[in-house]
Amino acid sequence: MELKKAKISAVGHYLPEYRLTNFELEKMVDTNDEWIRTRTGIKERRILKDPDKASAYMGAEAAKEALESAGVDPKEIDLIIVATVTPDYLFPATACLVQEMIGASNAFAFDLSAACSGFVYALTTGSTFVESGNAKKVLVIGSDKMSSIIDYTDRTTCILFGDGAGAVLLEESDDETGILDSIHHTEGDTNCSLYQHAGGSRNPATIETVQAKQHVISQDGRAVFKKATMGMADVSLEIMEKNNLSADDVAWLVPHQANLRIIDATANRMGLTSEKVMINIDRYGNTTAATIPLCLYDWKNKLNKGNNLVLAAFGGGFTWGAVYVKWSI
Ligand code: ACO
Repeated sequence: MELKKAKISAVGHYLPEYRLTNFELEKMVDTNDEWIRTRTGIKERRILKDPDKASAYMGAEAAKEALESAGVDPKEIDLIIVATVTPDYLFPATACLVQEMIGASNAFAFDLSAACSGFVYALTTGSTFVESGNAKKVLVIGSDKMSSIIDYTDRTTCILFGDGAGAVLLEESDDETGILDSIHHTEGDTNCSLYQHAGGSRNPATIETVQAKQHVISQDGRAVFKKATMGMADVSLEIMEKNNLSADDVAWLVPHQANLRIIDATANRMGLTSEKVMINIDRYGNTTAATIPLCLYDWKNKLNKGNNLVLAAFGGGFTWGAVYVKWSI
């Protein structure tokens, strides 16, 4: 049986209105705009202030926009995958909430947890459902309300993250474009260089865990930085070599937006100039599972059918991976 190929047929996004600037952070913790810009590339990030809204809301808004632009009825969707580390609840899955919010009553839905690599993992997972013929229309969503797990008195983490969501619609490709290859890696980090200490079954929520601020992101920034720089650059080269792509063949690198220095190192290893790199970390910070679909949304009018894109990410877990996409729209 010949395998089908999946393509991205539409993109949608959601960004909260509130802009948390470096200058506002200067008033909250001992930091400054210059340090944040030069060490990370971030100028501002968006924050979802409405306490009644969270990752499911943002993901649903992004999904609605993608469906509208494709002219697809939500009832036609077979599968919804939401990549997130900030689910509305531990259960039910955020994807189930999105399914109800957008009226995709014929879809089954589940969450995928791979931290900052969540979107590339989910894209590969969703595309295999299309390739096998088990699903015709799949929504792949990355949505994270990172502000819900940030300690805004910790200057080493609060400057990095923002809130947002991006969504893509996957359908069967009938030409040479589509999702052509993917490579994924995992290295279990039992030392927990990047994790949320409490709130799971290992350390359920207690008054003590809350008082000790264990429900927020904890990370060894330097260790993660080294791993991320190596992992993202290595896997991007790996997918280029596997598909015989030269730097000239690659139209765009679509990197996870954790740190501008990590992105630059990846582009350098691939031999790409900065004009071929999508960067929105300056405006949104690290939105975890949403960074890559938000880039695709921001750049959608500059992309041409047939452009070769390398999507690459690294995140907690550790997880990392790259996806080779020949743009279809
Ligand atoms: N403002 C001012 N100074 C600061 C701040 C701040 N916000 N944060 C730390 N510093 C200080 C440190 O205390 C340290 O001071 P010292 O030398 O007196 O001890 C100094 O700045 C340098 O600190 P480093 O941690 O060495 O700074 P570094 O250049 O590594 O940058 C950063 C820190 C931005 C966190 C970087 O390590 C990084 O980006 N790591 C990757 C982490 C990441 O992105 N995680 C997200 C999820 S995983 C992913 O998406 C890849």
